[in-house]
Amino acid sequence: LQGIPLFAGLSSSYLQKIANECAINTYASGTILFRENDIGTVFYLVLSGSVKIYNSSNHGDEKILSIMTVGDCFGELSLLDGKPRSASAQVIEDARVLSLSSKSFNVLLRGNIDMALHIIKELSNRLRETNQQVHDLTFMDAKKRVIKNLIKLANEHGARSGNIVRFKINLNYDEISQLAGVEKPLLFQVFNELQTKGILSVSGNEFLLNLLKLKY
Ligand code: CMP
Repeated sequence: LQGIPLFAGLSSSYLQKIANECAINTYASGTILFRENDIGTVFYLVLSGSVKIYNSSNHGDEKILSIMTVGDCFGELSLLDGKPRSASAQVIEDARVLSLSSKSFNVLLRGNIDMALHIIKELSNRLRETNQQVHDLTFMDAKKRVIKNLIKLANEHGARSGNIVRFKINLNYDEISQLAGVEKPLLFQVFNELQTKGILSVSGNEFLLNLLKLKY
């Protein structure tokens, strides 16, 4: 557990206590960990792989709120406020996930100010990110949102060499549209435009993006 930001600064005896109380499971891509409105009983931390957090409309459309990767935690909201899950969580890349029961999570949080502060900082980040998303959905046109999200994915998952970023993501086109909050035909239109201009090249789930030529 050493090296996980959430547990930074905890003594080895505290880490041992967590190790005794947590479970570590491996989930295949596609596994749904929980759905929006379920009762929340568990806190999760991603050790490897990735998990998407999303909301669904009554018609089955989805909006991806966030992609959780190594070191990210989720599922804290319903444990803190006692309300149902605010979003669904689905594994999108085979994942090892640490889980803690609601009781253990609360005991750990009450007993450790650093851990509580880490969670508060995480919630602050999410509020900022959400404000930014509201801003983009309100003021930014759809094409710019696609480009902005591509750059974000490149920064978060890519290796940069000069102006070129190479990145691999386990998201299909539906999911990339849901992340950017655009319809799929528009996503294809923007991708085609970027490919024609030599800004983007796509092969399977591998992307090459030329940052120098990109503006949004
Ligand atoms: P909980 O409501 O218990 O279950 C869904 C989880 O998704 C939630 O806790 C948070 O951990 C996470 N979550 C909800 N909304 C967002 C968001 N806007 N950005 C990132 N994570 C979120």
